[in-house]
Amino acid sequence: MTTSSSPTPTETTVINGSMQAAVIAQYGSPDVFEIKNIAPPQVKADQVLIRVYASSVNPIDWKIRKGMLKLLPGQKFPMVLGFDIAGEVVATGVQVTHLNVGDAVYAYSNQFPGGAYADYAAVPEKVTAAKPENLSYPEAASIPLAATTALQALRDAGKLNAGQRVLINGASGGVGIFAVQIAKLFGAHVTAVCSTQNIDLVNSLSPDRIIDYKQTDFTQEATSYDLVFDVVGSKPYSACKRILTGKGIYVTTQPDPKNYLQALLTRVLPGQTAKVILARANRVDLIYLKEQMETGKIRSIIDRTYPLSEIAAAHAYSEEGHAVGKIAITMV
Ligand SMILES: NC(=O)c1ccc[n+]([C@@H]2O[C@H](COP(=O)([O-])OP(=O)(O)OC[C@H]3O[C@@H](n4cnc5c(N)ncnc54)[C@H](OP(=O)(O)O)[C@@H]3O)[C@@H](O)[C@H]2O)c1
Repeated sequence: MTTSSSPTPTETTVINGSMQAAVIAQYGSPDVFEIKNIAPPQVKADQVLIRVYASSVNPIDWKIRKGMLKLLPGQKFPMVLGFDIAGEVVATGVQVTHLNVGDAVYAYSNQFPGGAYADYAAVPEKVTAAKPENLSYPEAASIPLAATTALQALRDAGKLNAGQRVLINGASGGVGIFAVQIAKLFGAHVTAVCSTQNIDLVNSLSPDRIIDYKQTDFTQEATSYDLVFDVVGSKPYSACKRILTGKGIYVTTQPDPKNYLQALLTRVLPGQTAKVILARANRVDLIYLKEQMETGKIRSIIDRTYPLSEIAAAHAYSEEGHAVGKIAITMV
């Protein structure tokens, strides 16, 4: 792979050669993935080209693959999916100021449908930060989308403060493991909801209380919460209202019309509020997360690691909906 030299600020850096990528040319089952040699992405002035060493699977990847999100823009076949990137900078656009060739980085691609399931990915510098030094590439790649979602759901949508009570539904999944740890870091009293087989794992994240959803319906309990973060999307706002405090907030990860309508209605009415989180990739949050990882305040949990050649199996596993932490993908 070679790069052409001296682009002007508006030009792209031309990358020659080819790279391996997991490509889809149609919507469908995990079988639609093809590992192919394709042209590498070109690098715009504000972008870095990353040699991707690892990525991770997020449910949005298989939702795109299945055609569940057809209305969202940017879906032109052939597509390379994947939003999480950990690797090394191999080229920089002329407007890039913080990063240099050779830097170990991690990134949350903000370009639909991602582009991370490949040897190389070009992403804006503004969604890229130095990789947490204490983490392997697969561990680093497990963080960007899931941990950013957890952080923005609790801090921005949920307005979580020290001493408040928060319930996290779906505590053992990719977003949930980070949500429990971040809520504890914020000084909240944390109730984590998971199934019987994941109690020990969730307990290792130090929540104050665990509810086994196979045994107890948390919406029927007498306890109330300042914030309910429904990561898995199994309990609607209508079911959670009764366990929210007077000004309690409900945050869901599911951007469906009913949840948006609820959010709109509760915004204009006094009292409890329903919100939908849509995570936004940004460098500042990645830097914050890096610091928490490096000081041991947050850690990642990787359930399984698959090479890119087994991306179909990784998607099939994620689609079962019972991942314990994150599913990593390695390119080398
Ligand atoms: N809007 C956004 O910006 C955004 C961002 C990230 C994710 N999301 C969405 O958030 C959802 C979760 O993502 P994720 O990455 O955490 O998924 P994931 O890694 O697949 O985790 C799913 C978890 O949900 C648990 N679970 C399944 N049924 C449950 C139930 N009835 N009650 C409680 N827990 C249950 C599973 O645990 P068990 O095996 O114990 O059942 C599993 O650990 C997905 O729908 C994803 O698309 C949205």
